Amino acid sequence: MDNRPIGVFDSGMGGLTTVREMAKQLPNESVVYFGDTGRVPYGGRSRDTILRYARQDVAFLRTFDLKAIVIACGTVSSTALAELSAEQEIPVFGVVGPTALRAAQVTRNNKIGLIATKATVRTGAYERVMRHANPMAETFSLACPLFVPLVENGRTQPGDVVIETVVRDYLSPIRDAGVDTLVLGCTHYPLLTEVIQNFMGPEVTLLDSGAEVVRQVRERLYASGHQAAENRRGTYRWFVSDTTESFTELASRFLGRPVTEPVGQVAIERY
Ligand code: DGL
Repeated sequence: MDNRPIGVFDSGMGGLTTVREMAKQLPNESVVYFGDTGRVPYGGRSRDTILRYARQDVAFLRTFDLKAIVIACGTVSSTALAELSAEQEIPVFGVVGPTALRAAQVTRNNKIGLIATKATVRTGAYERVMRHANPMAETFSLACPLFVPLVENGRTQPGDVVIETVVRDYLSPIRDAGVDTLVLGCTHYPLLTEVIQNFMGPEVTLLDSGAEVVRQVRERLYASGHQAAENRRGTYRWFVSDTTESFTELASRFLGRPVTEPVGQVAIERY
């Protein structure tokens, strides 16, 4: 039994879709969330910058007594998981491994699509795991740089002509390739599930990387006896690097519930 919180971070708000999954699958666990809203997006940046930012994000989270860290960001997970894990003595979880494994298992026609940020696609991290787990798998990867700013600006609903046009433009080649499984390789994208599913068709399975990593965290916590006590409800603490003003409204959309807890601002460059 271990009631210490789990640290979760993302370049911005996207990681809150992972926290939403934690609330569902691990309701007893407490969370300290950091969103680097002052420096989002990470997805178009160099490897060195992403690594430097991620180290600062982790250094801030480590000011709390945590039992594990979840990198709720496809960009950081695909770029810096090995380094961050090696530097920490508590477990560090990334979204790539569990999501890529699941995709390799659930595909029926061995055609898997991946949509993510430029940085994630550049690393080839998803493809490596998918091909290793399923050598028959053919992968189709695509960077969708406009999705993150559109999601952060609330353009997520079916009927919104802007997001529907961008989805059609980006995803046509992947739909034409006949994939039966599509990995949402960026934690912002689950907010677009409805629009993407409408475009891809009901026969295509969409995988949410946040949901997959939380499943892995759950298994590990229970296997090692580090799960929180079952008679408690998890508590949540929120931190961002930009102004806290718009956080509550935007976060409510990502979390699917009103945010009532206080939000702190962090001078992340100091870490
Ligand atoms: N949420 C981040 C991810 O999963 C993407 C946002 C960004 O580009 O910073 O990759």
